[in-house]
Amino acid sequence: MRIEKLRIFGGNRLEGATNVSGGKNTALAIIAAAAMALEPCQIENLPDIEDIRVMRDILLSLGAKVELEGGVMRIDPRPLELTQVPEQLASKLRASYYFLGALLGRFGQGEVSYPGGCDIGSRPIDQHIKAFEALGATVETEYGRIRVQADQLRGATIYLDMPSVGATINAMLAATLAAGNTEIVNAGKEPHIVDLANFLNAMGGHVKGAGTDSIRIRGVSRLHGCTYAVIPDQIETGTLMIAAAASHGDVLIRGAMPTHMEALTAKLLEMGVRVDEGVGEDSIRVRSEGRLRRVNVKTQPYPGFPTDLQQPISVLLSTAQGTSIVQETIFEMRFKHLDEIRRMGALFEVNGRVAYIHGVEKLTGCPVRATDLRAGAAMVVAGLMAEGQTDIYNVHYIDRGYEHLELKLKGLGAKIERLTEEGSLPSY
Ligand code: EPZ
Repeated sequence: MRIEKLRIFGGNRLEGATNVSGGKNTALAIIAAAAMALEPCQIENLPDIEDIRVMRDILLSLGAKVELEGGVMRIDPRPLELTQVPEQLASKLRASYYFLGALLGRFGQGEVSYPGGCDIGSRPIDQHIKAFEALGATVETEYGRIRVQADQLRGATIYLDMPSVGATINAMLAATLAAGNTEIVNAGKEPHIVDLANFLNAMGGHVKGAGTDSIRIRGVSRLHGCTYAVIPDQIETGTLMIAAAASHGDVLIRGAMPTHMEALTAKLLEMGVRVDEGVGEDSIRVRSEGRLRRVNVKTQPYPGFPTDLQQPISVLLSTAQGTSIVQETIFEMRFKHLDEIRRMGALFEVNGRVAYIHGVEKLTGCPVRATDLRAGAAMVVAGLMAEGQTDIYNVHYIDRGYEHLELKLKGLGAKIERLTEEGSLPSY
């Protein structure tokens, strides 16, 4: 078996400047939304990652014409006529279920198998189903497939039990082409929800209030084409900020949106990291020296601390002075990365959704596995911090969501390389 791994020799200070790519989770929602238009759309600033290629393949499988080149996707949704997403594509990523909302809006029906995505908890979809039903659709879930159908979608009040990102997005998609007015109460407020609203409005939709917990949508009968550039990736920005701090480096991150990073910036400042926002430009400079201080972290929906940065920051905390308490309130199985860094010398206990991380003087390199996308990013942070050589297996998880991560880090002075070899994954 041919396997790929990332090999890092840790202990090098990251220095210099790097650029943030377009937002993965934003792009996934916007690409699905483009399937609802009756004219071609051009989506720009897309990251060069596996998840984007899978979304292209789903559009192609449904009949759309799609070209993807140089971070630009040209989608002609006019020939799109199929409404069943093939199972082998749907199972590759969570965002495949955005086609339920998009196809329901455009055709009054859609079918997707239970979506894939990172194994970080049970991830139910009851809020998505509730939203579709509130809009007048019938939803059947049988044999691992979810089928939605409506003769006429009608605007409604949709109350979400929690501000689910995915359910908010699916509700926005379907409601945009429903007859009448919809209000999504207790909606997600994440930057990608705001970006999706801007994209829907650029296609002729009427979405107001995105970024607050009440999103109001006046349904329209058709959407036209547009050209749209997605916002920078909030989680990639945060991962680079944490990597800079972890290496005691001095890194300028360009093309970022500092306002999206406030929860992380506050924690890094508390730890003793210097974080300066560029004046008049979208950049963030991160500098750190000496041993960092412990902090407590509690993940929350935006604008709280993002669960997607919990894994990288808990690795950073593994060598901070004192005991940090990290509480994961969003996903119940998002501490698997800690078992990997235990092998590098980290000391911690996990009690349910709380990890008590006792900072050690240093981590030491060894073979580790990426257990999911952000756990993979966390392993890269661990490798940069550790003394000696760290080999990271299951690199395909990292490739799903980070554009050329090792090249960006190499450009900042990291000793990191991608190796392909015959062999098998380490079993330990
Ligand atoms: C999105 O997942 C992101 N994925 C995740 O990023 C991210 O971690 C998460 O939002 C939280 O920010 C994409 O955008 C593709 P949720 P999503 O619905 O939409 C519960 C990454 O690494 N819930 O906001 O699946 C759920 O179990 C990925 O890029 C229900 O109970 O997250 C969780 O506890 C990983 N019923 C909470 O809500 C539902 O119907 C929040 O989940 C829906 C969600």
